[in-house]
Amino acid sequence: MDATPATHVLPSSCDFTVFGGTGDLALRKLLPALYHRDLEGQLPADYRILGVSMSDLDDAAWREAVHGSLQTFVAAEQLLTPVLDRFLARLYHLRLDAQNPADWDRFHALLKERAHPEDAVRVFYLAVAPRLFGSICQRLDEIGVVDERARVVLEKPIGHDLASAREINEAVGRVFDESQIFRIDHYLGKESVQNLLVTRFANTFLEPLWNSRWVDHVQITVSETVGVGGRGEYYDQAGALRDMVQNHLLQLLCLVAMEPPTYVGRETVRDEKVKVLHALQPMTPEAVDRDTVRGRYDVGLVDGAPVPSYSDDLGHGGSRTETFVALKTEVQNWRWAGVPFYLRTGKRMDRRASEIVVFFKEPPHSMFPGAEGVTAPNRLHILVQPDEGMRLHLTAKEPGPGGYRLRPVSLDLSYAAAFDARLPDAYERLLMDVIKGNPTLFMRRDEVEAAWTWTEPVLRRWAGSPDRPKRYPAGTTGPTAAAMLLERDGRTWQETDQ
Ligand code: BG6
Repeated sequence: MDATPATHVLPSSCDFTVFGGTGDLALRKLLPALYHRDLEGQLPADYRILGVSMSDLDDAAWREAVHGSLQTFVAAEQLLTPVLDRFLARLYHLRLDAQNPADWDRFHALLKERAHPEDAVRVFYLAVAPRLFGSICQRLDEIGVVDERARVVLEKPIGHDLASAREINEAVGRVFDESQIFRIDHYLGKESVQNLLVTRFANTFLEPLWNSRWVDHVQITVSETVGVGGRGEYYDQAGALRDMVQNHLLQLLCLVAMEPPTYVGRETVRDEKVKVLHALQPMTPEAVDRDTVRGRYDVGLVDGAPVPSYSDDLGHGGSRTETFVALKTEVQNWRWAGVPFYLRTGKRMDRRASEIVVFFKEPPHSMFPGAEGVTAPNRLHILVQPDEGMRLHLTAKEPGPGGYRLRPVSLDLSYAAAFDARLPDAYERLLMDVIKGNPTLFMRRDEVEAAWTWTEPVLRRWAGSPDRPKRYPAGTTGPTAAAMLLERDGRTWQETDQ
């Protein structure tokens, strides 16, 4: 446990290795994020990025591939030639066949090929299939490149169930101490998600209301318009529950529901989040049947254009994988008992939006006899994306003489308007945290395993059920059963932020 808030310092030299260096994640997210940090002058002066993959590329060819992806994923006005040249010159590529000891020797030699190899902080980012995590760590250990300052970054998913997550954690833990393991959930790096902590704990007005006495229910929605695209092979093994709910949505739920930590530090926040996961209502078979809905997209229209079904995307019709999940749960503790948390996520939905909506209760007494107009209970929208911000819905009196005409109005905070700055991508923040050795926004082993413990009974029940996911036309809000999940409680999903 950390006794005091730690400060995290930028090392003077660093070798940042990406296993899976030619993959989609590396090219679309990691390299653009590192470029942006270089642009801001935040990378250590003595810094190399080593791409490791099965591709037969030399340094020049990898630099060219990265250059191409920067042109796609970085705004043109931010691609400054001197920075770009400096950044590309830091890149090296190594073809590595994990089964070939000679390739590991070459990797070892590459890490040693610098003026003071012992000074460099080594980061090993595993952007590869999770089944390879354990064996890569073992090899790193065998070739002697893991010292006490080395760090390993694990991309989700950490396993596909509790047993496989434990196996991975054991294997990685045999080489790296827990303090050196950074399990990434990129939702925790999003500005609006971090701001949720600040809104809750750097202000006083919400805290007295943030409980079952005043909160009616909470909705967390992450809806995407994209389909599975070229990721069908991975996605069909995962499905929406493993891909999104087990990690991103549960992390959002934790940040909404957790108790205030003493301060925001490397273990304190994680200690509080894991308590929330332990307090989730267990998913018994009856609860799964009653409180979960799974769906799968069919053909439909997204943004006015026809899109194929999940089976078409996959190339066959035999799959039982869900691309949509809606569920109801409860945090069974003193603060939240009796408050439903409704979670929902899906691909090929009608809009791209991630938001948390906290619905407050009706006023206990109606004080405006003869009032006209529409009233709605207060609700707070935390807009995670695409337009980060916050909106508080209140009831106001419409101006005018005679009587009270009541109308819902909103107080809006748009980050783009309030702060005249580019909002960094989640990976920018998280990669800097790795380099500086700050694990606060990364998932600890017990968190990942607690999330699997809660999720697994749902997976098991679904796998044993003859039912298939319910179909929904692409470009809609999901299957009608998802609407019924709330309707039976006298509630509706908040579809648009009106
Ligand atoms: C990833 C999932 O973790 O998150 C993807 O594997 C999903 O399926 C993505 O599309 C969503 O992230 P974001 O930042 O676009 O909301």
